[in-house]
Amino acid sequence: MKSSRLIFTCVGIVSALVCCCYFSAGTMQHAAVASDTITVQVDRPGAAIPKTMFGLFFEDINFAADGGLYPERVKNRSFEFPDPMMGWRQLKREGAQGAIYIINQEPVNDANRRFLRIAVEANGQGFGVMNEGFRGMGVQRDEDYTFSVFARRAEGAPTGLRVELEDADGHTLGNTTVTGLTPEWQQYKANIRATATSGKAHLNLLAAGRGALDVDVISLYPKDTYKQRPNGLRADLVQLLKDMQPGFIRFPGGCIVEGRTLEQRYQWKTTIGAPSGRRLIVNRWNTEFRHRLTPDYYQSFGLGFYEYFLLAEDIGAEPLPILNCGMACQFNSGELASLHNIDHYIQDALDLIAFANDPANTFWGKKRAAMGHPAPFHLKMIGVGNEQWGPQYIERYKAFAQVLKQRHPEIALISSAGPSPNDERFNYLWGQMRRLHADIVDEHYYMEPKWFRDNVGRYDNYPRTGPKVFAGEYAAQSVGIASPDNRNNWECALSEAAFMTGLERNADVVVMASYAPLFAHVDAWQWTPNMIWFDNLRAYGTPNYYVQKLFSVNKGTNILPVLLNGMSKNGQDDLFASAVFDARTQEVILKVVNTAQTAKHVTVSLAGAGQLGHAGQVFVLTAPNLKAENSLDDPQKVAPAEQALAVSASSFAYTFAPDSLTVVRIGKTNR
Ligand code: AHR
Repeated sequence: MKSSRLIFTCVGIVSALVCCCYFSAGTMQHAAVASDTITVQVDRPGAAIPKTMFGLFFEDINFAADGGLYPERVKNRSFEFPDPMMGWRQLKREGAQGAIYIINQEPVNDANRRFLRIAVEANGQGFGVMNEGFRGMGVQRDEDYTFSVFARRAEGAPTGLRVELEDADGHTLGNTTVTGLTPEWQQYKANIRATATSGKAHLNLLAAGRGALDVDVISLYPKDTYKQRPNGLRADLVQLLKDMQPGFIRFPGGCIVEGRTLEQRYQWKTTIGAPSGRRLIVNRWNTEFRHRLTPDYYQSFGLGFYEYFLLAEDIGAEPLPILNCGMACQFNSGELASLHNIDHYIQDALDLIAFANDPANTFWGKKRAAMGHPAPFHLKMIGVGNEQWGPQYIERYKAFAQVLKQRHPEIALISSAGPSPNDERFNYLWGQMRRLHADIVDEHYYMEPKWFRDNVGRYDNYPRTGPKVFAGEYAAQSVGIASPDNRNNWECALSEAAFMTGLERNADVVVMASYAPLFAHVDAWQWTPNMIWFDNLRAYGTPNYYVQKLFSVNKGTNILPVLLNGMSKNGQDDLFASAVFDARTQEVILKVVNTAQTAKHVTVSLAGAGQLGHAGQVFVLTAPNLKAENSLDDPQKVAPAEQALAVSASSFAYTFAPDSLTVVRIGKTNR
């Protein structure tokens, strides 16, 4: 970009530090003497900020998919969990006689071998089954829910099903009936409008008439999904993501890509097509932590690769699928696919590119079109393995890269730097990746808050040539990695903000970054901290969410060099700062993190910008104390506050609040 585009139209008094007022918590006050200086070199724009700079890491952990983003209300809807009745129980009301059976013959389809038979001898007050949902079912008053079921008449003359939605106390929230069963499997659908709101509802299915009937793929699905799509995603969660304007979304993990064993790895081909035909597998997080065992955690793949691509498109993010590279999780079995057998895995990658990008009249393009998306998804990058390490990874990465680079030079490959930010595994992998001319290397850091503040200069001296960096998984751990006592508190978020100024300053090397993990159900999580928490009805962004959002929506188009007290070193006197120019809006955007417990009176100079003479905007994110957190009941306790800022000269005084992240936007438009 040419520097002339950065010259503001208002010609002003260059660097006239005469400003006598500042805003603090929305109040104009007399300024104390400024002791620190921040100089933004507006006339020295640097590298372009990649559009992918700040994005999302989605993993099906903490009930992020089933029970979360995928809003099916019925758990174990097809009786395919190893314990086929998990989530279900028999209902036998007064005077009723009958039995229930799990049968695995003549299934609805091959991926879905089992179904439930309800055999009734006497109906009495009702005989059938109840589903408990995912820690209950969330239903909103006056909202519509589609009940659907595959059913058939098995013996005798059952007339159909009575379907009841009840709250935790057994009060009716709505009901419907299914009639006209035949001896053949057929799908039946009916609408239930909820008469009241409940986060802990459940669903009853009661047979009507005597005899036996078979049921499978039993679903209660909200009509109000994102974009009102059938099999669509939970609207409030998608909106939280979209509001961040993410540059990319990585999916579906994380360790679930690897699986505890290769048999349990994520295989994208089994996650497309009709949802009823997607074969369920265990979720790797089901048994991972003894202290957070989650026996009912499986992957129905109702949210599969097609839905992930659609989600990426909906929120304006580049899709980044991560594929298994022939290695099961090295924290578990570490099972390896033989190198002689690796073609199968590479073929999955080739086919995925075809599924995403080929025209609608091709083999894979047809499958995508049949699901509702004839246009390509414009896939530009793929991850080869998740958090792998060792020579075994390098061998497998090489095999992938050899084929993919030859067949698809347009696709960037993401490779692993292992699970730690600076151990032997990390150094070995980076050495290899440089030698192999890898595209983008994925670094992970789950470290204490102080590490983030201390490592703000991590990328200042990374080589400017060779592979780029994807800061693919990071989050400050208030207690320690994988501790169930970690909190999404303000100290963690503020430390991440400080670190992110270092990412932004180095956007020529770090081309993508994402906080991890993304989602957690408050009643069903395995891992903490997480960016967004939810229950069956509500969701909230943590302080970490607002930090991510502030950086992402203010990412600009070009790096601007920043001097702190005349030096390029970031992180002095508890101050951290980075700046960008946004060529689209002609604004300078300055981000300042003050980790001191006192306010900082700072002279800010926009060198080379001239006098501005235009209203600016300031977003201040701070908290009552470092332990402060958001919650379902107090979701905005730590949330950005917007203030106006009148800047009349290219140098001005500003007081940065204690323990705060401040984003200052100054442009030539009257915003
Ligand atoms: O984010 C949780 C886990 O941390 C991811 O699945 C894995 O990649 C990392 O070890």
